[in-house]
Amino acid sequence: MKVIVADDYESMSERAFEIMKDEVVRNPNSVLGLATGTTPLGLYRLMVDDHKRNGTDYGSVKTVNLDEYMGLSSADRQSYARFMRENLFDGLNIARENTYIENGMASDAESECLRYNEILDGLNIDIQLLGLGSNGHIAFNEPGTQFGTETHVVKLADSTVKDNSRLFDSTESVPTHAFTMGIKNIMQAKKVLVLASGSNKAKAVYGAVRGEVTEELPASVLQLHPDCTLIADRAAAALL
Ligand code: GLP
Repeated sequence: MKVIVADDYESMSERAFEIMKDEVVRNPNSVLGLATGTTPLGLYRLMVDDHKRNGTDYGSVKTVNLDEYMGLSSADRQSYARFMRENLFDGLNIARENTYIENGMASDAESECLRYNEILDGLNIDIQLLGLGSNGHIAFNEPGTQFGTETHVVKLADSTVKDNSRLFDSTESVPTHAFTMGIKNIMQAKKVLVLASGSNKAKAVYGAVRGEVTEELPASVLQLHPDCTLIADRAAAALL
């Protein structure tokens, strides 16, 4: 794994932006695997600014997102579908039909997982962006998830519900379940780019980079990926 330590959140976002932009410019048909959360917001802002200023073209780019809360529609202000529209897609010339995310309202969860896996199998992700949960989760693959999993439904760990409650009105309103790409899907991406910012991610960063490769810390699987870059700011890299 290649590790880059950036001075702060802004410089982490800028390094990530250079990598993303390079991918899209080199291959206008790129398939980008995208993530939600506060960590990638700086990167998304830079992508939107760059598109406005320099016209970087997303007309043939496709995107697939990692995960979505179960029970939230794409119009819900807490849904990851809406997060992506508001923070990235609305600012780029990307065709909406080229952006994929699980349907949080699917009535048959099993068929939804199969549908999404088929999409992933047909797309071949060029670069997968990831944040880290403070417990070392990637997407919503919580500690204990088998490395061989594909898209599935998860019950969120109590610590994840607590972490993510800052974005909801109350802890009770955080959905308890979510659809998520599996670890196998993530590992199939040609490149993986992990971002981490803040001292609450320091343990997870250590586990991802230096810890034992174990299903108890899902991000540790990335040590087995042939082309993975992790960019952490100083606070997140403090234990390395
Ligand atoms: C959620 C998402 C993850 C994300 C994590 C960290 O649990 N499912 O994909 O990486 O939160 O979020 P943040 O970047 O807000 O710390």
